[in-house]
Amino acid sequence: MRALLLGSGGRESALAWGLSRSTCIDDVVAAPGNPGIARVADLVDVALEEPAAVVELARRIGAGLVMVGPEAPLVAGVADALREAGIPVFGPDASAAKIEGSKAHAKSLMERAGISTAAWRSFTDAGAAVTYLDELGPPYVIKADGLAGGKGVVVTSERDAAIAAVNERLVENRFGVAGSSIVIEEFLDGEEVSLIALCDGIDVAACEPAQDYKRARDGDEGANTGGMGSYSPVPSCPPDLAARIVDEVIEPMVRQTAAEGAPFVGAIYAGLALTGKGVKVVEFNARFGDPETQALIPRLSSDLGEAALATATGQLRGTELRWSNEVCVTVVLCSRGYPGPYASGHEITGLEAAGRIPGVAVFHSGTRETNGKIETAGGRVLAVSATADSFGGARARAYQGAAAIDFEGKYARTDIGLRAERIEGSES
Ligand code: AMP
Ligand code: GLY
Repeated sequence: MRALLLGSGGRESALAWGLSRSTCIDDVVAAPGNPGIARVADLVDVALEEPAAVVELARRIGAGLVMVGPEAPLVAGVADALREAGIPVFGPDASAAKIEGSKAHAKSLMERAGISTAAWRSFTDAGAAVTYLDELGPPYVIKADGLAGGKGVVVTSERDAAIAAVNERLVENRFGVAGSSIVIEEFLDGEEVSLIALCDGIDVAACEPAQDYKRARDGDEGANTGGMGSYSPVPSCPPDLAARIVDEVIEPMVRQTAAEGAPFVGAIYAGLALTGKGVKVVEFNARFGDPETQALIPRLSSDLGEAALATATGQLRGTELRWSNEVCVTVVLCSRGYPGPYASGHEITGLEAAGRIPGVAVFHSGTRETNGKIETAGGRVLAVSATADSFGGARARAYQGAAAIDFEGKYARTDIGLRAERIEGSES
């Protein structure tokens, strides 16, 4: 069987690697892919957000499974079109992907499903929004309703900055239609955990928990980014807590979307805060997380292709994903300046040397090939994942890999996985 994988980031690099090792998948085609993905897949170009173009491509190459990596094609209805054409697809229809495409929609679904989340209200009027900000008090959380490439959320203790965030969205239209409506919500204080589960519309098979580092600088300082690193499993979310999250968050959401006529097929992602008042949902996504996936796939010992196909064809019942006992730490290498402006086109060296370190896998995010050389082409450039039998060991390997790679302006946090290593140290 041939699988078509849509996307070109670090998440897709990890998924391509997983699919290429599957016993039920003969070959992988990625669109548009990147130079890292090209080592395990053939690349073709396609307009990712044009459902008809994706269906045409899937038919032309005879894809028996299409896996959609990023959210934008899902919200654009790519999975709907593939499903209508009778092609098995891993990824929800647009109606189900709205759990990520509209924050207000996700919040009201959670309310109807009885899922614990931050108190919230949705606004189109700036004055009313500011009144609610004052009612909640600091820290303030302001979110563009629609997709904003991870840049739509502001968390701040400054009232002036909060009001500016409201105005940028509702008055100055800086986020276009994505920001023409906003959600303001209660601040959730607590460690964040990501729980991702495969879902075939009815049944679910959960991944082990992962944790993402959202802030740009060490010690969780600096701007919110797409994710500066990750690790799995998560010592502060042990198996019994993860099982409860599946029962109390994932399953109720899956039942609710199905009951409302939009069954969820694909990877459902719950971003959670472990607060003093229990686990609360920060957000839902309609896809695998980036960079959580780069820390999960190296630990997955069951067959990704089989699980994806079972998900796409409604046959997930009885499937349990199996995980290696090793832990994984993923360090993202960025272009200096990210998430603000940064330069591209710098040559990357040391990729082979990093890949030879035991337990290390290098996943490409923002790279391109020019005249036979790999160069930087994005804010997040590479993800260096390392497995080992302890967080200390995995951190050492990941940072050894990160040090072996070089490009002008290379930047990485130095504390990825450190929290887990400390918990590990205090337990042994
Ligand atoms: P979201 O896109 O909704 O996940 O928001 C991006 C990031 O902003 C989250 O991963 C959190 O780090 C932070 N955030 C979002 N909502 C809240 C909240 N209610 N309280 C605290 N932090 C939040
Ligand atoms: N790592 C956060 C996300 O994928 O949305």
